[in-house]
Amino acid sequence: MTDRVRQPSPLSRTALTRRRLIAGIGAGVTAFALPRSGLAAAPADVAADGFRVLHARAGNARLRGPQEAPTPIWGYDGLSPGPTLRVKQGEELKVRLVNDLDQATVIHWHGLRIDNAMDGVPHLTQMPVEPGQSFDYRFTPPDAGTFWYHTHFGSSEQLARGLYGVLIVEEREPPQVDRDLMLVVDDWRLMENGEIQPSFGNFHDAMMAGRLGQYITLNSQDTLDLKVKANERLRLRIVNTANARIFGFRIADHVARLMAADGQPCPPEIMRDGVLRLGPGSRADLFLDATLKPGASAPIQVDDLRGGWLDLGRLVYDAGEPMRPQALAEPTALPANPLPKTLDLGKALVLDVPLDGGGMGMMMGGMGGGMGGMGPGRFNGYGIPPQQRIWALAGIAATGHDGPPMFKVDRGRTVVLNFANRTAFPHAMHVHGHHFRQLTPGGGHRPYWLDTVIVDPERSESIAFVADNPGKWTMHCHMIEHMAFGMAAWFEVT
Ligand code: C2O
Ligand code: CU
Repeated sequence: MTDRVRQPSPLSRTALTRRRLIAGIGAGVTAFALPRSGLAAAPADVAADGFRVLHARAGNARLRGPQEAPTPIWGYDGLSPGPTLRVKQGEELKVRLVNDLDQATVIHWHGLRIDNAMDGVPHLTQMPVEPGQSFDYRFTPPDAGTFWYHTHFGSSEQLARGLYGVLIVEEREPPQVDRDLMLVVDDWRLMENGEIQPSFGNFHDAMMAGRLGQYITLNSQDTLDLKVKANERLRLRIVNTANARIFGFRIADHVARLMAADGQPCPPEIMRDGVLRLGPGSRADLFLDATLKPGASAPIQVDDLRGGWLDLGRLVYDAGEPMRPQALAEPTALPANPLPKTLDLGKALVLDVPLDGGGMGMMMGGMGGGMGGMGPGRFNGYGIPPQQRIWALAGIAATGHDGPPMFKVDRGRTVVLNFANRTAFPHAMHVHGHHFRQLTPGGGHRPYWLDTVIVDPERSESIAFVADNPGKWTMHCHMIEHMAFGMAAWFEVT
């Protein structure tokens, strides 16, 4: 990554330094691994018909610690992260979204292979839910794993303000861990007074890496201290909810095993160099054995994009007896989910999908007549004006979802997409309704099922999936400002 990408703005540099200072002087407060962002969390609201009612509304979060003024946010039930939803694999989830905001919204269930009508994409799968209105989401998640739910309307603003939460689908046979914790990583762009800086969806961010915040939190807390006992095994569900930031994540002095990527189990794998690289939208399930001595501590860190590390929290070991005399034996893989058994690459529909546009002068797709010249608008539903079409997929800048699909495919056929990044920025390409394999040269694939893949500048990634879920699905860059400025498309499985 270039230096230009690493330094989004002077504001960011100052505050990153300050963020590091705060962590460095040990000003952390002991906290639980649960979101406590709301000052007055309302009890869960369950309607008479069994629907869990989620209110999208304004709230507050103490992002900068208990001494500082809280930050006004938008969240589900006024919380960010919103309430963690838990359901057992094979059980139905019923959620009623009530919109208490003063603009329309929707909920998208990221990574869930569910009915198209429940996917929460405005104008493509449902109409936006207007202020004062509600919408019922009802589905049975097929896969156990770590997922999340978030707004998919006016996302540059709504996601940056905090409209997201974690959805955990529990395995029928839970694995042996002592505790199951979520770690939501987000970056907030705050002003001096602690309020969210309101320059959502601005042209500069969109042209560059997207909206990068300068204040990074775990579970919306200033410093998250996790109390552990020696030889305890933790399951950590890491979720990157940032609009645009790719995080390098690590826990110092520990060996963490990757057990699932984007919700789907993978062969257990010790994290290379101890660092997990997680793009916007992605999740990772880690198993971590607390192998230090009682009384020890170890920082939980993310990279600062400039070669340094920021402390976001710590593992703080209890000084008393270890939980057990020694750590547990190596874990076996999590139980497999009902994913397609085979990919028929020979009969696949193969599409080249170059990624073009943006700033830094590397685009090769030809911008035609300036910023508005990325070719004819394929879509029309978001009302994106021509001058905002600065990114493109396969030569076409999206303006909404009313136009024709990028492709149609018969149900059950394998689709191969060859993403080629011809821009100066990484992109996190996300496909709705399906998980895919990352192909390797020679016809193989990597051992994960992903729903979002980072394509670095001047690199290509080929993905393959079985189009087994009928409906109209969007795919887009999960750097939200890139999506909002054209890097989006949809396809239909018939
Ligand atoms: Cu998490 Cu269309 O996205
Ligand atoms: Cu992008």
